[in-house]
Amino acid sequence: MCGIVGYVGNKNAQEIILQGLEKLEYRGYDSSGIAVNGKGHIEYKKLKGRLSVLENYLKERPLVGNVGIGHTRWATHGAPSDVNSHPHLNEQETIAVVHNGIIENYSVLKEELIKKGYKFKSQTDTEVVVHLLDSLYDGDLLSTVFKATERLRGAYALGVISSNNPDELVAVRKESPLVVGVGNGESFIASDIPALLKYTKDVYFLENGEIVHLTKDNVKIYDKDKNQVRREIFTVDWDIEAASKGGYDHFMLKEIYEQPRAIKETLLRRLDDNGRIVLDDINLTKEDLDKISKIYIVACGTAYHAGLVGRYAIERFAKIPVEPDVASEFRYREPFIDENTLLIAVSQSGETADTLAAIREAKSKGARILSITNVVGSSVARESDDVFYTWAGPEIAVASTKAYTTQLVALYMVALHMANIKKSISEDYYFEIIEKMKALPDKVEEIFKKSDEIKKIAEIIKDKNSVFYIGRGLDYQTSMEGALKLKEISYIHTEAFAAGELKHGTIALIEKETPVIAVASQDYLYEKMVSNIQEVKARGAYAIAIVKEGLDESLNHADETIYIPEVDNILAPVLTVVPTQLLAYYTSVIKGNDVDKPRNLAKSVTVE
Ligand code: F6R
Repeated sequence: MCGIVGYVGNKNAQEIILQGLEKLEYRGYDSSGIAVNGKGHIEYKKLKGRLSVLENYLKERPLVGNVGIGHTRWATHGAPSDVNSHPHLNEQETIAVVHNGIIENYSVLKEELIKKGYKFKSQTDTEVVVHLLDSLYDGDLLSTVFKATERLRGAYALGVISSNNPDELVAVRKESPLVVGVGNGESFIASDIPALLKYTKDVYFLENGEIVHLTKDNVKIYDKDKNQVRREIFTVDWDIEAASKGGYDHFMLKEIYEQPRAIKETLLRRLDDNGRIVLDDINLTKEDLDKISKIYIVACGTAYHAGLVGRYAIERFAKIPVEPDVASEFRYREPFIDENTLLIAVSQSGETADTLAAIREAKSKGARILSITNVVGSSVARESDDVFYTWAGPEIAVASTKAYTTQLVALYMVALHMANIKKSISEDYYFEIIEKMKALPDKVEEIFKKSDEIKKIAEIIKDKNSVFYIGRGLDYQTSMEGALKLKEISYIHTEAFAAGELKHGTIALIEKETPVIAVASQDYLYEKMVSNIQEVKARGAYAIAIVKEGLDESLNHADETIYIPEVDNILAPVLTVVPTQLLAYYTSVIKGNDVDKPRNLAKSVTVE
């Protein structure tokens, strides 16, 4: 939930750490801090507020040193404040620590340390780490960190420096993400790759429980039993440009406009010369598939909405029963799982704590795990048997857009792949759907031409207290995703309903001028949706319809209509969601909100 950065080299550590933190602000942005190994002592500064608050402070009073750590925070234990910000230091200020994650046994450790005479300044779980390190310090920073990790429980990525070991940085990864960058005479750590890209593309991914010792010329990785491990360097093939706004006002808009390219990337690179789907990383045989009696799709938020569409695709193409579930609920309801279960985990970041917990639960009961994720080397990917990378490129805006549409494409591809192995659909139908998928990127481009119409609708809804979304079948899934997108960045209350459920209670909420967004792309449900639009209009609603071209326009009496290009019913969610993303975006911009970093939210939810 937080972002950490560390540097060892010959350059000014402050500058490199601040630039890295800028790229990680999406992971948390309620406070930030930095510590550098100066001349014989640690200099540090930490402040509540956006990173810019710290940057402005340091402009006048820079910290000087070539080794340092930095942190951008999203509060878990202890409210955002200067004192709760990281780094945390021991009383003598000889050790500094930055942490991403949660120390689950911090209260036991805290009590123990207080009895030994340690004084705590903050309400954070992290402060126990630095006092624990102090209590175990034996002159060797690496061995001290080893000893400390034996006592820590929970999820953590840590960066540690000490003024007694001025040329070293030690870091640990346990269930929270951490990458190590290797430069020429310099080494780095960071919670995510964009923080390093300006300096190096060569990285090591750490496994769970590993500890890394960095000096400017050397990076040594150790497993939890202190054995040095050899790891291949991974060279990142996207550059800093891909991780910056590239001329758009906001990352969210850039990412919306990247969807045609991202969909193409996800799809086309997996089609062979005959137009057949090739999934190299998924080793499902006919025998495996015949054994699978049930599929669960687990995910959170937007990724869960993708899973709901995935159910339709897998049941329709592969004819296997599918149950989607929100990951935070899944493991607490004793789901029926055995070795004939396949669990599909969908996660953009690959670090969502609840999704990881669902994976572990299912794995422990014998299920096979297939994950769909955007982040190479993420925890979700590493803990899965098979992985489908969405190749959407980095998604920086908190509100997910291109990750969602590429997750949809991934799920269609997995469903078609299974169907092809099982021969549960005809060859003709298989190729017909693939051909129709190839046309999706151009159709998404077509929808961008409606931006001005959508902006006008944003002006209409911007001051409303509530906006309702309705749809049937796959349009209900888009309604849910559209409602989430609008509420999270415009702060307008939104709700999505299955249109058929309206008259069972919800219609009581409709009054004069209440905006109702009706998604109507499914041919066989169109007339029923038309009736639902009439029902809400009769109660005074302001009806905005998202309708597929070719459906009978004369039946549609909505106040505003956004047309999307003709598309097969099953693939429609890839298109219907785009106007809802743009509507959310423009409403947020008009309201003057911080579009990319909405209040109270973080991009990657690595705590339960
Ligand atoms: C909403 C949004 C979230 C995420 C959710 C899961 O726009 O982005 O609802 O979809 O937090 O995150 P991942 O996909 O990283 O597991």
